[in-house]
Amino acid sequence: MTRSPEEPLAVPQPRPGPYEPPAGYRSRGRLPKARTPAGADAWLVTGWHDLRAVLADPRFSSDRAHPAFPTLVPGQRGLTTRNGRTTLIAQDPPAHTASRRAVLGEFTVRRVRAMSPRITEIVEGCLDDLLAGPRPADLVAALALPVPSLVVCELLGVPYADHDFFQSRTADLVRRGTSDADRARAGAEVQEYLSGLVAAKRRAPGDDLLGRLIVKQREAGGEDHDDLVLLGTLLLLAGHETTASTIALGALALLERPEVARELREDPALLPGAVEELLRLLSVVETATSRLAKADVVVGGRLVRAGEGVIGPVQTANHDPEVFPDPHVLDVRRPQGKHLAFGFGPHQCLGQHLAREELRIVFGALLRRIPTLALAVRPETLSFKDNANVYGLHALPVTW
Ligand code: HEM
Repeated sequence: MTRSPEEPLAVPQPRPGPYEPPAGYRSRGRLPKARTPAGADAWLVTGWHDLRAVLADPRFSSDRAHPAFPTLVPGQRGLTTRNGRTTLIAQDPPAHTASRRAVLGEFTVRRVRAMSPRITEIVEGCLDDLLAGPRPADLVAALALPVPSLVVCELLGVPYADHDFFQSRTADLVRRGTSDADRARAGAEVQEYLSGLVAAKRRAPGDDLLGRLIVKQREAGGEDHDDLVLLGTLLLLAGHETTASTIALGALALLERPEVARELREDPALLPGAVEELLRLLSVVETATSRLAKADVVVGGRLVRAGEGVIGPVQTANHDPEVFPDPHVLDVRRPQGKHLAFGFGPHQCLGQHLAREELRIVFGALLRRIPTLALAVRPETLSFKDNANVYGLHALPVTW
């Protein structure tokens, strides 16, 4: 049977592997029609220029709670509070502008630099434990999951005594094999925990993100408990699995390219470029960059009508051969500054400086401390998290 060119492309499609986007996405031109698992039609924005234009265009909405918003993962309607309120990733201006302005100061390069010694301690601690334990070991459980979780603890001001609880619940949220019921319970427990934490910080605000925001809210003449609980939940969800997946897949990419690992070990000045290139190559966030058109807009020569959805698969845009020659190659000397792994425009990742710092510290320490690190299984036996919002690895057995 020949397929009509207008027959929608079924999305999401699996990647052939971690380093290449689904081949089908670019097979139908710049803006093919796509159909989500729920049967909704949307446009797939496959080119770098087009996706960047969409993400910068205020005529596209991020209202993830809207029934017409194109979602690829069933049951995912964005982060809505108990009272039906949303947080910044699902807001449009002017609400988004105000929410973002309230927290922007917490994520500046300066603020992240100040966290750097503590991030280093966390990473070195995970590597100490790994090296003291049995071989082979799972690098996802030993490094990729705990580092971002402990960094979020640091950011939010989670007391040290609660780290184990927090870390185990956040790991449950992102681990394979957690049943839907257990995931829901872990989510509810984290929310409940954050609610208690906000209440405690209100009594004695410390010098951490939540403490500072409470003081700011007070100075502005109002306190909004739910707003802070929701923000904490968003930071945890947005900052955890994304960074964990990039650590795990980035480690795999370096294990599979010993010549690149050697170069980085010999010249650590190449590390920042390598981190950017890993972010581009892997582009673990698949669908956070979907949008809903609020007006008729021409994208990639097609008319997208008001009320229609667009889906922007980031890895496909980040492998656009017109912008990134030899796009599937990890080239640590590639000119940087163009990839869309953190999105673009008003919703561009709030935690990007923090994520970069974590990745630089993790890969720098891993290369330096375990130069003999090697995969403990054949690469073809590795199991990848596909069909999810964040692409990743279930486990990464390593030895040294
Ligand atoms: C937004 C990717 C780490 C917090 C985003 C977006 C992307 C992204 C693509 C844009 C969503 C959109 O366009 O609607 C990543 C990747 C990360 C990472 C690849 C790690 C490698 C983090 C971290 C934090 C964080 C560590 C904080 C702890 C956020 C927040 C938003 C966001 C709050 C929403 C911003 C807004 O809507 O204004 N991220 N992220 N992310 N990210 Fe990240």
